[in-house]
Amino acid sequence: MPYRVVLIGAGIISRNHLNAIRQMKELSAAAVADIDEERGRTVSGEYGIAYYSNYKEMIRIEKPDIVIIALPHFLHEECAIWCAAQGCHLLLEKPMALNVKQCDAILGAARASGVKLMVGHTQHYWPANLLAKTFIESGVLGKLLAIQDTRHLYYFSEHRPAWFLDKAKAGGGILMNLGAHSIDKIQWLTGSRIKKVKAALSYEGTRGNVEGSGCIFLETSSGVSAVIVQSGYAGVARDETELIFTQGMIRLVSAKGMWVSRDGRYEEVKPPCSADPFVLQFEDLLQAIRQDAEPGSTGEYARSVIAALEAVYRSDEMGVEQTLDTE
Ligand SMILES: NC(=O)c1ccc[n+]([C@@H]2O[C@H](COP(=O)([O-])OP(=O)(O)OC[C@H]3O[C@@H](n4cnc5c(N)ncnc54)[C@H](O)[C@@H]3O)[C@@H](O)[C@H]2O)c1
Repeated sequence: MPYRVVLIGAGIISRNHLNAIRQMKELSAAAVADIDEERGRTVSGEYGIAYYSNYKEMIRIEKPDIVIIALPHFLHEECAIWCAAQGCHLLLEKPMALNVKQCDAILGAARASGVKLMVGHTQHYWPANLLAKTFIESGVLGKLLAIQDTRHLYYFSEHRPAWFLDKAKAGGGILMNLGAHSIDKIQWLTGSRIKKVKAALSYEGTRGNVEGSGCIFLETSSGVSAVIVQSGYAGVARDETELIFTQGMIRLVSAKGMWVSRDGRYEEVKPPCSADPFVLQFEDLLQAIRQDAEPGSTGEYARSVIAALEAVYRSDEMGVEQTLDTE
């Protein structure tokens, strides 16, 4: 029998999850809940699943094995705690919560109920990222010294849901949302944690009260230096990561691929697998459930991303470098 899955939040990311479930015989999507009836019913119709306006009612009636939580960030904590208490395994979207205190409350609830908690750090499942990690670990390009991560995306578009631009609901702007991916990527690729952070943010957006750009200098516990530059203002969209080694470089272009340079020019190296990252993410969660093991992106790991993001905002406010406890 396939595992029954329900989805809370029929927003932008909902279809990535439901399309992945469609490709997997081990999973069956049962229902979606959203307080926005039109949105919820549209997704329910597209995927032939039930619609509920109230997620608690959905879970009481559908009794799912797995719940995907794809809600605005300020609702992650209360929803994850409630769902864990119902005995459901959780795929909680990134960023885990608004702050470390909320992460700890979610971790405590998952532990108390004995359910698996995975946070949707999808960077771990992009085929080009997986390939880059094998290059780093094999040492074929020598020692990894530095990472430069660039993300530009017009963040204040009229199409962006308003909660993303409200600090109380989103926890921050482009850095909380997309910076979470950058910090995760740096930690996961290097197999280490962010140890030092110095950040300068700007608040020049046309909507809301969140930051619209950031320049962050980081150091990992493994000794790699990294720079994240993000702009949510006008310009050309970009999502690239450059890895600098002693004997070459790797360029990752999100959702496009990986290029390697040893002698003055970049050549594309195709990843051996081209699987949908959301399928790989579910496979990881399923393995953790079946083997009573931990998934690749645990709640404890996701908490470390939030701790680094808290340090980013603290560093900008105080104007000084922040050191994180990585023990
Ligand atoms: N992994 C990724 O690459 C990725 C990409 C995009 C978004 N995300 C994350 O996914 C989450 C959702 O983002 P989104 O872009 O889909 O947002 P969204 O605003 O498009 O969707 C959120 C949905 O939640 C619904 N909602 C709000 N309160 C609710 C409640 N109490 N009960 C039921 N439904 C409720 C809203 O009506 C909305 O439809 C966020 O955590 C975001 O950061 C992750």
